[in-house]
Amino acid sequence: MAKNKEIVLSGIRPTGELHFGNYFGAFKKWLEIQDQYRCFWMVADLHSLTTLENTKDLKKTAYEMTALWLALGLDPEKSTIFLQSGVAEHGELNAIFSTLLPVAMLELNPTYKEMTASHPKAGSFGLLNYPVLQAADILLYKTSKVPVGKDQEPHIEITREIARRFNRRFGRLFPEPQAIFEKIPKIYSLADPAKKMSKSHRPDSYIALLDQPAEIRRKIRAAVTDSGQEIIYNPVKKPAISNLLNLYHLVSGGQIKKIEEKFKNKGYAEFKKDLAEKIIKFLAPIQKRFEQIIKNPKKIEAVLKNGSEKAGREAQKTMKEVKNKIGLINLN
Ligand code: TRP
Repeated sequence: MAKNKEIVLSGIRPTGELHFGNYFGAFKKWLEIQDQYRCFWMVADLHSLTTLENTKDLKKTAYEMTALWLALGLDPEKSTIFLQSGVAEHGELNAIFSTLLPVAMLELNPTYKEMTASHPKAGSFGLLNYPVLQAADILLYKTSKVPVGKDQEPHIEITREIARRFNRRFGRLFPEPQAIFEKIPKIYSLADPAKKMSKSHRPDSYIALLDQPAEIRRKIRAAVTDSGQEIIYNPVKKPAISNLLNLYHLVSGGQIKKIEEKFKNKGYAEFKKDLAEKIIKFLAPIQKRFEQIIKNPKKIEAVLKNGSEKAGREAQKTMKEVKNKIGLINLN
């Protein structure tokens, strides 16, 4: 199939476990579109330095995340899978972009405000600069579409602003990229259906894609529920059960109505038991492929190395154009 020429790029920080929220909220879209566009999938290891206190596991988590991407079906033959720190031009373009926006604008970024409020020690320049580096990631490849979770919207808006300012000041070079969001209802925390599922909450509050069956059964058993025993989808009155119904729907493919019917005269316990088994069944083939892939770190490294070389060639082309537009000397 001839691919659309438009560029798609997205990335995830390798800071922890990928969970259902990441998978259904953003990652599933990656799998769909890798056949349609020229795609770049980036292990955002530099971004993870803005919040990680300890980098000792970073290599391991980066390899694991890449292995999981491959297990889920990202294909290095179809798209470019690469390491952010493996392409030096990300930092180079970041240095240029850092001159385009006033600091006050970055201080208004909601993610920055949240992070500094919850981690009083998180006041590094890197954290403030986070969306500028993200803009460099995106624009370095002249990306036009960015499949991400809804929480990334402010960062994509900052990216667009940087593109506009660069184009206005130095002449047109960058597209104004669009975010693409998954349309499924959001997945919420198992411990608190008012919060989205997130790896920064307690491990019990999310299902990681590599969770083992016993863990999944335990987490689902412990998931909060609403009063009453009826299994009905009503996000306002029954937010917890609606979240579990949505999960059931996502892993089984069954319609919510049919699931409600199936559990009509049954209680929460029975529903949860069945849900846990459906999740286990859904994850089994993914986990099996992951186990195969993780056994061979050389192969994972080769995927990242080839991908980063490929990305690097594109990045160098863009940097040449950037330098020409600005009037910097191009030595190569
Ligand atoms: N900020 C993104 C997140 O936390 C990760 C990321 C870094 C990213 N660079 C990117 C996403 C570029 C999309 C495009 O999920």
